[in-house]
This record gives sequence, structure tokens and C-alpha cells, in this order.
Amino acid sequence: MIDKERAIGLVESFLAGDALARHWHGPVPELAVYAVEEYEVGWLVFWGPAASARTGDAQGRPVGGNSHVLVDRQDGSLHYVPDAWWPTEGWEDHYLLQTKGVRRPDPLAAEVRELLRSAGAVAAMLHLRRNAPRLGLPEAKAYLTSVRDGAEPPEELAALTRKEPASPLWPVETLAGPVEQRARMDHDEQSRHASSFGSAAVAYAEHRPDYAQAAVRWALEAAPGPRVLDLGAGTGKLTATLVALGAEVVAVEPDPAMLAELQRALPAVRALPGSAERIPLPDASVDAVVAGNAMHWFDLAVAGPEIARVLAPGGVLAGLWNLLDDGVDWVAGLARVSGTEAIGVRDTPVAWRAETADMHLPKNGDAARFGSPEQSTFPHGQRRTADSLVETLATRAGMLVMPEQERAARRSEIRAFLADRPETADGGFTLPMLTGVLRTRRL
Ligand SMILES: C[S@@+](CC[C@H](N)C(=O)[O-])C[C@H]1O[C@@H](n2cnc3c(N)ncnc32)[C@H](O)[C@@H]1O
Repeated sequence: MIDKERAIGLVESFLAGDALARHWHGPVPELAVYAVEEYEVGWLVFWGPAASARTGDAQGRPVGGNSHVLVDRQDGSLHYVPDAWWPTEGWEDHYLLQTKGVRRPDPLAAEVRELLRSAGAVAAMLHLRRNAPRLGLPEAKAYLTSVRDGAEPPEELAALTRKEPASPLWPVETLAGPVEQRARMDHDEQSRHASSFGSAAVAYAEHRPDYAQAAVRWALEAAPGPRVLDLGAGTGKLTATLVALGAEVVAVEPDPAMLAELQRALPAVRALPGSAERIPLPDASVDAVVAGNAMHWFDLAVAGPEIARVLAPGGVLAGLWNLLDDGVDWVAGLARVSGTEAIGVRDTPVAWRAETADMHLPKNGDAARFGSPEQSTFPHGQRRTADSLVETLATRAGMLVMPEQERAARRSEIRAFLADRPETADGGFTLPMLTGVLRTRRL
């Protein structure tokens, strides 16, 4: 989840980059953030030329060349949403539908469902017809039937319950993808650059680690069957381990570029676009849901019920994270030198335990959908070189949002540390890691 400070940092980095130069007439002036508004989908960050942002027009907006960027609350991706400026009613729904292919749960469906339960079909029907006059009688009946068991209404019916916009909304322009993906792209860029100098070893750095098989086995131990959903599957690192262990895997991933890579790498796996908040699978259709380094992105208030919906009775939810084993002396030293921007709160075992202990619970106090969790860690490792490790750490999201000078200095410190340690000074080494698992069962 992206908080306000992080959102501002991401927009400031974007403004400091060269992406705007292509659109700007003449030299790009110094730009500054001057206001931030919070919305359900994310942070709307207003920016403009620093000089005029200080003085502003009558409404306090900077004069000339000012604009806004939506920072997605879930994944930190950046978007230009023209209709957010005025703002036009329904711009958030429009944003979600265009960029993620998801609709927010329909509030009318929740009201109708509640009335069905508390006051019966006639009251629910009256409420529905009053609030959705474009819905004919047969459609209203179909609507009632579809929402009765907790499902969302089919889109063709839901569309008839919404007000038609006075004019079509403007298309959303995506300026930058999810933070994690940007980190990876930046990293790949550097790896490519390095390999052009002939260093074959940097190829290691192009790959995130996979997951310890023992960890995946432990995660799935109590699952009532072999059907596993890999949620937030990315390019398929965890998916591949699941396949190797004989699971019947379906992968779901919201980012189209990641999904395409997964489909390329694992063509035999069923891979679908979707998110934890909107899973494109029927009720009770899997025995386990696993998420590799992804669960912290989920909004459990929405994703919890959605994951519980697709899980069969007794089904398992497990989050897996790859950690650096700072029980090893030199790794502890590396964590100190790198700082929390590069080796963050979920990256070492003790901090990870605390950080993920209740990650399966919704943060807004909604009812828990899962029983008491268990956590465990399993030895793992990854072949690295000092260069590849420095490059990977330099592309962690916390480092990417640092001012360039600070980032370069931190990178040099990490490099110097690794050059100094006998374990890492020469050639390749195995980076001591652990795979941490949080597992729990559907209530
Ligand atoms: C660090 S990557 C991990 C990918 C993969 N599981 C792995 O182990 O390599 C995090 C993934 O979570 C995905 N993600 C982010 N928000 C999500 C959400 N709300 N629902 C599902 N996936 C999400 C991202 O698109 C990204 O692919």
C-alpha cells in the first residue's frame, strides 16, 4: 500500500526524470508538488512550475503547465486521469475499469442483498426498481437472483443500474507501471548495460530468486486438494515451483506485461488477468491460494472475502516472502550498510515475522475470513556476484525514490562493503536467504 509521503516521492521522482521533456514546449522548468488529495483508488498529486506554485492563481493553483498525477494506492503506478481534475462523477470507476479491468463492488447490490435478507423479495425489488429505472422487470428479477448468494451482478445488468455519463470520460494515460515492476525494469536495464561490457555473471541479477521447495510444501501441507491459485503471480517464479511440486496451478496477475512474460515462460499454465480484489475464478474452485512476495499489495478488506470465496472449505491461504538471512554475520553487516531503503521491513526474518503476523487480516477492522496463522522459515539461497547484488539493491523501491546523489553514495557504500568481506569479495557466492511463509486456513 502506498502512503501519502511515498506517493509524493514517486511523483517527485517522475517529475525529476526525463519523461516530461518529450511533452514540454521548451526547456522543462523546475517543477514542484503543491497539493495532494486522497481518494479511494489513490493519491491525486497536483504539480506545476515551482516558481508559480509558490504564488499561484486565485484558487492557489500554479499558473501555466500545471497538471496532476494519480498514484495508485495499491501498486504505486502513475496515471494521468483527465476527468479527475474537475472532477467528473465516476472518474474512479472509469480509472479502475480502464487500467485494471475491475469494477468496484456495486453499492446497490449490497443494499438489495441486505433487503432480500431482512425484508424479503418484494421490498428488495421495490428498492431496486426505484433506484435503477432503466432495469426492466425480467432484468430486475435476474438481478435479484444473481446477487442473492453474495455474488456481484453480471455486468450487462449492473450497467443498466448506473447513471449514463453526460459525455464519455477521457481515456486514462498510464505514465508509469507498478513500483515493483519499475524497479525490475530499471534493474534489467542496468543488467543489460553491464552485460554489454562482457560480464556474464550479471545474468543472475536479471532473475528474482525462486522459492525454497520445502517452504512451498509446508504452505500447501494442509490444503484439501491439489488445485492452487498463484495470486499476483508476476512472471511466474513461484508458479514454476508449484508446477515442479505437481500442483494444478492457475496463475492470476494484474499487470499485463508480467502476465505476458508468465505466459511465455510457462505456456502450459492457465494464466488469467485479475487481482486479489477481483479473482476471475468461480466459488470454491481452488484448494489453496498462494502469493509470492505479493500479499502486502492486497487490500485484505476486499481481497479477504474474495480469496475466501474462491477457496474450497478448509482451503489454505499462504503468503511467501524471500528474506535475507541476517543470522549470517556478513548479511547482517550488509543490511546495516544498505539501510531500510534497500533491505526493508519484510526482508529479514525478525522484522518479517512482525510485519506479516497479521497480514491476512483486513486493516479496517472488518471480520477476519481466516483462522489463526502460522509462520515458518526455510533455508534458501541464490547464486550472486557482488555486482549483481549491488544492482538489485539499488533498484529496490525505497532506493529508487531517493535523490540521485544519495542513491549513488549508498550504492558505493554497499559496493565497498561487499568488496571488503572475504565471503563476497571474489567472484560468485551463494547469498544466504530464507523463504518465510505465513499460512492460515479459511474459516
Ligand atoms: C514482487 S512481485 C512478485 C511476483 C511473483 N509472485 C514472484 O514471486 O516473483 C509482486 C506482484 O504482485 C502483483 N500485485 C500487485 N498488486 C496486486 C493485487 N492487488 N492483486 C494481485 N496481484 C497484485 C504485481 O503486479 C506483481 O506481479
